[in-house]
Amino acid sequence: MPSRQDSQAGNTKQRIRNVLENRQMSQSIADAAIAAAPEYVKNQKLKQWVGEIAALCEPERVVWCDGSQEEYDRLCAEMVDAGMLIKLNPEKRKNSYLACSDPSDVARVEDRTYICSANKDDAGPTNNWEDPAKMRKTLNELFKGCMHGRTMYVIPFSMGPLGSPIAHIGVEISDSPYVVTNMRTMTRMGKAVYNVLCTDGEFVPCVHTVGAPLGHGEKDSAWPCNPTTKYIVHYPETREIWSYGSGYGGNALLGKKCFALRIASNMARDEGWLAEHMLILGVESPTGEKTYVAAAFPSACGKTNFAMLIPPKSFDGWKISTVGDDIAWIKPRKEADGTTRFYAINPEAGFFGVAPGTSEKTNYNALATLKENIIFTNVALTDDGDVWWEGMTKEAPAHLIDWQGKDWTPEIAKETGRKAAHPISRFTAPASQCPSIDPAWEDPAGVPISAFIFGGRRATTVPLVYQAFNWNYGVYMAATLGSETTAAAFGAQGVVRRDPFAMLPFCGYHMGDYFNHWLKMGHTVDQAPGIFCVNWFRMNEKGEFMWPGFGENMRVLKWVVDRVRGRVAATENALGWMPQYEDIDWTGSDVTKEEFDALVRIDAEAWKTELAGHKEWFDKLQDRLPKQFMLKRELFELALSV
Ligand code: GTP
Ligand code: SPV
Ligand code: MN
Repeated sequence: MPSRQDSQAGNTKQRIRNVLENRQMSQSIADAAIAAAPEYVKNQKLKQWVGEIAALCEPERVVWCDGSQEEYDRLCAEMVDAGMLIKLNPEKRKNSYLACSDPSDVARVEDRTYICSANKDDAGPTNNWEDPAKMRKTLNELFKGCMHGRTMYVIPFSMGPLGSPIAHIGVEISDSPYVVTNMRTMTRMGKAVYNVLCTDGEFVPCVHTVGAPLGHGEKDSAWPCNPTTKYIVHYPETREIWSYGSGYGGNALLGKKCFALRIASNMARDEGWLAEHMLILGVESPTGEKTYVAAAFPSACGKTNFAMLIPPKSFDGWKISTVGDDIAWIKPRKEADGTTRFYAINPEAGFFGVAPGTSEKTNYNALATLKENIIFTNVALTDDGDVWWEGMTKEAPAHLIDWQGKDWTPEIAKETGRKAAHPISRFTAPASQCPSIDPAWEDPAGVPISAFIFGGRRATTVPLVYQAFNWNYGVYMAATLGSETTAAAFGAQGVVRRDPFAMLPFCGYHMGDYFNHWLKMGHTVDQAPGIFCVNWFRMNEKGEFMWPGFGENMRVLKWVVDRVRGRVAATENALGWMPQYEDIDWTGSDVTKEEFDALVRIDAEAWKTELAGHKEWFDKLQDRLPKQFMLKRELFELALSV
């Protein structure tokens, strides 16, 4: 009989053997992943990292994406075979597909999103935080073997035009072909990125898994994801992103919110620029004068609509062009004449836009963009193989398959209230297909910004438009921006929450530090852009929107442009500078003076409540809040009481 000592030694030997075997297996997975790299991949750090992630996730195979049309078509065909995509009728929508996600995976998961800075205080009270070492341990366990039975794709991408001094490179590893095809439309993705990366270029590593490993021979589901465990994790110091369990939008397309906002906001703070949740548009006057503005509205509050606005008929000769609809990277730059101005680029190459409410009437340019090469997510399927969503046409088709694959008729909708398309169902569309795309949208130098506009969804209190007295007041206004929550984030809807700069879910560090950064950035340019607040969503007692919105927003936008060009009047009040009825161009409009006055009315009582809300919000940020904000709030209160 072996002694106790002998059997202990035996166990130890077995353990060592297991460790060695595991190590060997890991090494051979890593070697195979690296060996799969095409010869044009020269970056050693990238290869080594891909090897490490493969060893951790243990995929069935590794594919290094080249971003070609052939690759895109092949992946789409594979997804059609697997039941993940439906190919739409090519006569109606050429080269377009519909994906319907798991009902548990339809929006960003803000409560599962983490900023894991070394120091808890650096993430601030508006972000979820976990100790990075602890989070790494949790994720390592979750990611171990998470890609069993799946293909691991290596997706190289550039945020911003390839090789632009403002652009930055990322590489996403994902086990979702849906992510690959969406990233190809949303970013500059593929082979050319490896050339920019060269042998030792820097990249932001992004790791994504749907978190649904397949057992041997197990059949995949149409939308694999992890129904119970989701993590969207950022390590700001090491500039890394790890995403587990979701295949949807901003949770999975890591170039977008994770990189271009949460990680980029950290880079921007350190390097002296701005990474913002903003659209960029150009306003061209009949004389050919061009003015660019950037505007921040919270998710599903009208950025895409505003970016593609078509002016009312009476604005003969005025043109709006689109640079971007969701994200802006803005850097100060010295011009030839020696003055420094803000220049902005759109780091994305496509639109991931909200479908419901998009019609020929509300957004003609968006519909025109959607003719071909589109991936739709969670909209309804028509009987002739096209798509439909609420608000696309006045009358709904007699029969549809809704986003959950169920029969849908207008009668069923009436009885049950069930929507055919999910409220934030989306389209992924190449920006180049947009009729209003600005000629300079890919200019690596960016476009000069003359005004910033901030807007929330507010049924009461906030007037149609006002201009901040100066930069610092403007930063205060943006910092206290409130908006009623929408379906863009999981959770309660329609409650006012502070959404500073429309960045609440996207700022990758302490919000107080972010405000200070904005205050500081005002001094880096010779003439800071004007700052404006708008609200398209004020309602009357009947719960109807008081402002016609959409194309009519041009009237407000023209006032903004005329203000920064110094050629239109404004009246001072407690909030800032506001137009009188006469200051706005009403040609062809039926908005009366009474209606306009109601839209810009300042209800002192409502504003006192609003200011109490500011205080509550500021108390949350405590010692990192800009000192001048408390004072500004008191001045506001004073101004309201006179
Ligand atoms: P994300 O892509 O989620 O960041 O959002 P976005 O700001 O680009 O959202 P989008 O432009 O797609 O907003 C869609 C919602 O805004 C729809 O409900 C529209 O009906 C509504 N909307 C847009 N413009 C207007 C407007 O001028 N007036 C009103 N009342 N609603 C508007
Ligand atoms: C948003 O929610 O602000 C979006 C969509 O633009 S997502 O990319 O899913 O975050
Ligand atoms: Mn957005």
